[in-house]
Amino acid sequence: MDTVQLHLNGEALEVSGVSPTMTLLEYLRGERSQSGTKEGCAEGDCGACTVVVIDPESPGGPRFRAVNSCLLLLPLLHGKHVYTVESLRSGPPARPGDEGYHPVQEALVAKLGSQCGYCTPGVIMSMFEACYRDDLDAPWKLDDQMCGNLCRCTGYRPIREATVQIAGKRPDDRFSAALQAAADGPPAPALAYRYEPPAASGHRPQRFWIPRTFDELFEIRAEHPQARLVVGATDLGLDVTKHGERFEAMISLQGIESLRTLTHDAGLWSIGATVRLADLEDVTDHALPPIARILRFFGSRQIKNGATVGGNLCNASPIGDLAPVLLSLGATMVMRGSAGEREVSIDDFFVGYRKTVLTADELLVRVELSDPPPEARIGAYKVSKRREMDISAVAAGLRVDVVDGVVKAARFGFGGMAATPARASQAEAAVVGQAWSQQACEAAARAVANDFTPMSDHRGSAWYRSTVAANLLRGFFADTAEQPVPRLPDRPTGTLLGSTTLATEAQP
Ligand code: FES
Ligand code: FES
Repeated sequence: MDTVQLHLNGEALEVSGVSPTMTLLEYLRGERSQSGTKEGCAEGDCGACTVVVIDPESPGGPRFRAVNSCLLLLPLLHGKHVYTVESLRSGPPARPGDEGYHPVQEALVAKLGSQCGYCTPGVIMSMFEACYRDDLDAPWKLDDQMCGNLCRCTGYRPIREATVQIAGKRPDDRFSAALQAAADGPPAPALAYRYEPPAASGHRPQRFWIPRTFDELFEIRAEHPQARLVVGATDLGLDVTKHGERFEAMISLQGIESLRTLTHDAGLWSIGATVRLADLEDVTDHALPPIARILRFFGSRQIKNGATVGGNLCNASPIGDLAPVLLSLGATMVMRGSAGEREVSIDDFFVGYRKTVLTADELLVRVELSDPPPEARIGAYKVSKRREMDISAVAAGLRVDVVDGVVKAARFGFGGMAATPARASQAEAAVVGQAWSQQACEAAARAVANDFTPMSDHRGSAWYRSTVAANLLRGFFADTAEQPVPRLPDRPTGTLLGSTTLATEAQP
């Protein structure tokens, strides 16, 4: 297939003749003259550009996903269904019950949730995903759903109240029918897309592939070793929108089924490299709380709907938030190249600033880890300048295995403290063999200063980071001592106070 095939607001399109580094937002506003979707930051922070996508091949079946169209490269929509704010009121009603405004629009109007209206199309589309979700059963999930939509003039109380009103309503309408139709549709064929820019532009041709098998992938990589791998484009998209990159060769891994597989069987987790963070969060919510906890404060719903496990780990950022938790859990990284598979402990995966052990023809295929044993006490922490949608100053995954009151093993993973995510070996040694006590915790807090020589930057000074690392160990002890200090309850993000459950918040 050499054209990008997608459905836009129900219309089947075959796209060619545009650069594969064109974003969906540019395509909508420039090529389709659909200006309902707005551009604010062009970097995934404000949510003005939010649209909803159905991926027929989502694990667990198709679902609506709110995503940032400013970061999504157009070929990544191959085989998918895109809905913009225009679709909520476009064309004649397909069947009775579809006339009038969509319930999310009615709710936002009723609650006075819009003033200048610039954020409103994005707010509406995030509310749209909330409307068709069946798992919004706690207030924090509502905050998480909407935290990626900034509004400069209305204030968040009316927007939140409107979202409470429609969350999980799942009306039996044309959109529910589209979801079912997507589930019954065929998988997207492989894509081999080529774009020849006008000669006068001086630009070179660009290629974009979506292989469906490893054999196809390795063949393309052998011919184009410089090709960039991409799935959600939440990181690579910034190179395009902020640095004007025009990659000449890109390969999306979204077509390879085994990479998006997530299983939990007989105590073993196998997490495919292209599993979306939102899906990992859903599955680990009760089954592996440290991962779900760090993902809660990871980024917006739109970002987690696009970003992948492998993307977060393989860019090897020293402040990637998954790595510290996976260090504490003792994960195994499984890689595959043309010569076959090999495994390394996550302890040995990061070898330098933004460098991993992956060779030029390898990719991460999955992360494996075991359920922690009953004696494991685990905490996951992130310290940043604001709670939602921020980059860590320091993140930590901390674990002690305590048997009869004595620490048998410890794994303290930190991010933001060195050129790579790394374990604090001296702090670990300070507690192993000791009673899990205030004294042992203080010894670890002193030792962690010798484990790292953090840098100073705009997120925090070296002194600040070292102090935070020690205090996270103290907080971890408070959380996991024989008599833990009671936690303060999580507060809603918005201005609404005293919320308990969605059911009690719901307005008639
Ligand atoms: Fe701000 Fe896309 S334009 S998130
Ligand atoms: Fe003006 Fe939200 S209504 S930015």
